[in-house]
Amino acid sequence: MQFNLEKTDPESQARAGTITLDHGPVETPIFMPVGTVGTVKGVHQRELSQDINPDIILGNTYHLYLRPQTDILEKAGGIHKFMNWDRNILTDSGGYQVYSLSANRKIKEEGVKFKSHIDGSMHFFTPENVMEIQRTIGADIIMAFDECTPYPCDYKYAKRSMHMTHRWLDRCISHLEKTPLKYDYNQTFFPIVQGSTYKDLRKQSAEYIASVGAAGNAIGGLSVGEPAEEMYAMTEVVTDILPEDKPRYLMGVGTPINLLENIALGIDMFDCVMPTRNGRNGMLFTAHGSINIKNKKWEDDFSPIDDMDITWVDTAYSKAYVRHLFKVKELLGMQIATIHNLGFYLWLVREARKHILAGDFTSWKNKMVKQMDKRL
Ligand code: GUN
Repeated sequence: MQFNLEKTDPESQARAGTITLDHGPVETPIFMPVGTVGTVKGVHQRELSQDINPDIILGNTYHLYLRPQTDILEKAGGIHKFMNWDRNILTDSGGYQVYSLSANRKIKEEGVKFKSHIDGSMHFFTPENVMEIQRTIGADIIMAFDECTPYPCDYKYAKRSMHMTHRWLDRCISHLEKTPLKYDYNQTFFPIVQGSTYKDLRKQSAEYIASVGAAGNAIGGLSVGEPAEEMYAMTEVVTDILPEDKPRYLMGVGTPINLLENIALGIDMFDCVMPTRNGRNGMLFTAHGSINIKNKKWEDDFSPIDDMDITWVDTAYSKAYVRHLFKVKELLGMQIATIHNLGFYLWLVREARKHILAGDFTSWKNKMVKQMDKRL
């Protein structure tokens, strides 16, 4: 993997760059649509590649390990072939899903014992087997196995957990060195900063993560219920320490405003279920705020869902029609909302990139944040 930093904004820490991976270049800042189980829910690969056009998408180790299971992915020749996606993929390690989805999990130094949220069967994740699973899934970027602490989290627990995440990181790295690639392309490993909402822990964790010298670095444990200001404060502490010449990935973030504020603090990569999950619940994100398309006020509004016309669905369908689809629970409503929202998120990060390159990111960002902070 290569990272070429093209420009830094003069008034903030925002950067424009290009990450080069074996499935093509990724222009940053980037938003990675979430494709948890080998599909970005509700979107065909053709629509994804042609209409939304991300350079990279995300998959989840936890889900893919449970279904279809790694033997099927190996027989398929890896996740790209299995799902017919020839651009880049990043897999999260399960270090978040194990805590958010499975019941009865037991975290120990050795690893995490957990109960499948699907059939109640018991499983054990360790830093070692999660590296092997990610080798078999075959994403281009693979993540360290970590513990994502909840919010709020008491200081003692956060500190203990952070140190365990660091020890797990050492185990991930030494096991990865012994685990050969399964397919004919490279995989890049990213470690994850933890430390909850404590500045001293975040600083300590960022220093440790920077010291391992990985090709890219991630920040976890945020967007777990803390106020946005607290998230930004943690991002700032960490981006001050993480190396400038490596991409920085803020995991699980966030709203369109969160994206812009964190880009201003030096983040290059994001993923979040918000555009897809909220889209399936009838929430449309636009440059002028968010819309709950199920509201009665749209019943006879025959204007396009978004006159910015970013993706073709924006002007092909009226608000009244999409509201109707949601009211009668038709699948097409969810599909339209998902394509629109992902199109908007990708537009937003591409615009951010353009403004960073043009040198006017900060004034554009301030205008957009004000403009998007509305419910229509
Ligand atoms: N996704 C969102 N936050 C996190 C985190 O802290 N760790 C991991 N592995 N994934 C995440």
